[in-house]
Formats: sequence, C-alpha cells, structure tokens
Amino acid sequence: MRRPIIAGNWKMHNTTEKARELVELLKPLVGASDVEVVVCPPFTAIAATVNAAAGSNIAVGAQDLFWEDWGAYTGEVSGPMLKDLGCRYVIIGHSERRQYFGETDATVNKKLHAALRHDLVPIVCVGETLDEREAGKTLEVVRRQVEDGLKGLTPDQVETLVVAYEPVWAIGTGRTATAADAQEVIAFIRKTLKAMYGERAELTRIQYGGSVKPENIAELMAQPDIDGALVGGASLDAISFAAIVNYK
Ligand code: G3P
Repeated sequence: MRRPIIAGNWKMHNTTEKARELVELLKPLVGASDVEVVVCPPFTAIAATVNAAAGSNIAVGAQDLFWEDWGAYTGEVSGPMLKDLGCRYVIIGHSERRQYFGETDATVNKKLHAALRHDLVPIVCVGETLDEREAGKTLEVVRRQVEDGLKGLTPDQVETLVVAYEPVWAIGTGRTATAADAQEVIAFIRKTLKAMYGERAELTRIQYGGSVKPENIAELMAQPDIDGALVGGASLDAISFAAIVNYK
C-alpha cells in the first residue's frame, strides 16, 4: 500500500565530478529496484546529479530550502529554484539543521508548506537527542515535532508527505536504534498523524534514519510501519547504497 522510499542524504560531500561518478556507478546497480530511490546532493551538485540521473530510476532531492520564493535573503535557495534544477524531493528539518542552524518546528512548518506549494515531495525529519531519550522524553519530543512541524496540511498533502524518524544519537555514530525501538516510535508518529488527519495518514511514508547499513536494512524494513530509510554515510558509497536499496 505504501511504496518504500530509500533516500541518500549526501550532506556536505561530493563535488560535481564525484556526484556524477557516484550516480553513474549507482544506475546499473539500482535499476531493477521497485523502491523509490532518491539521492540528495548539496546544492552545488544538484544540476550535475540531475543530468547524470536522467532517464534512470534515481530521483534527486535537495537538503533544505527557504520558505520565501524570491527576495533579499542572501545565501538562501527557494522552492522554485529547486524545481528549476529538476529536484523532486527536499529534506526539511534535519537534526543537523536544528542543531547548528537554528531550525525550529515553526521554520520546518513554513518550509514544508513552501515545498508543497512548489510540488516538491517533503522529507521531514524528526527525532530525539540522547539526553531526551535518557530522560524518557522521546515520545513527547517527537509528538511536538509532528504536531507543530506538520500542521496545516490538506488530506492530499498528508499522502504526499514523507517523514524520517532519525534519533539524533544514532546519526553517524554507528549506533542504530533496534528495529523494534524504531518501529515503536514510527508507529507513534503514524498515530499522531492519524489524530491530526485521520485515516489518510495510513498512506504517509515514514522512514528510519541513523546508521542504516546493508547489514541492518532488512530487519528495519520488515517492521510494519517502516517504509524506507534516510541514509547518510552509507549513501556515499555506490555498493553500500545499492545493497540498501536492494534489501529484499
Ligand atoms: O539523514 C541521514 C542521517 O542523518 C543518518 O546519517 O550517517 O547515520 O546514516 P548516517
């Protein structure tokens, strides 16, 4: 009912040449997959990645966008600009943006609406820090991020939305949440979305992110509410990312 979606978040890695090389290696490796495959390069490599991926089953996303379309916002990139480059997806509210660049649930919500206005599929990240988890606040934090960050959607938009549950303590640390822990929080995210939007939230895809590797993807994907993965480090290597995409 929900088509799996596996996305690579390249973060601040890859020049245009490296991006091209990585996509060329990936194309034959993931060409037979029926999951939705997305790569998210830094802004500077989006055009090269879109060109390299043309005609393949690899779609391209950005890692952020600004909520205004045009104007005096030095350094920012808007939805129309991403569309112009050929992006179809955009990551919003990644924990690194929340941690280092002042992203809040309120700015996430504005960016979410900007993405939808321009027909970009938003991949909205939520997740608790280690302190929050140890204080027993995981569900409280995630509920706030969902209720405040994802408010104001139409039923069709709820269906388009992709959410990524990324516990901050599992990102780049080699520590993965157990599949059961990830399932528990992701089921809670779906329950929260259902309380906000009703049954349409059954169609929202929810990914897990945080040290996803070829070795742990199958167990994660076997969970009933996990619909894909947002992959950081392992998406920089074609063989590893392809093995994750071809988890079945
Ligand atoms: O957005 C992906 C992410 O933050 C996870 O990174 O390196 O732990 O797979 P990584």
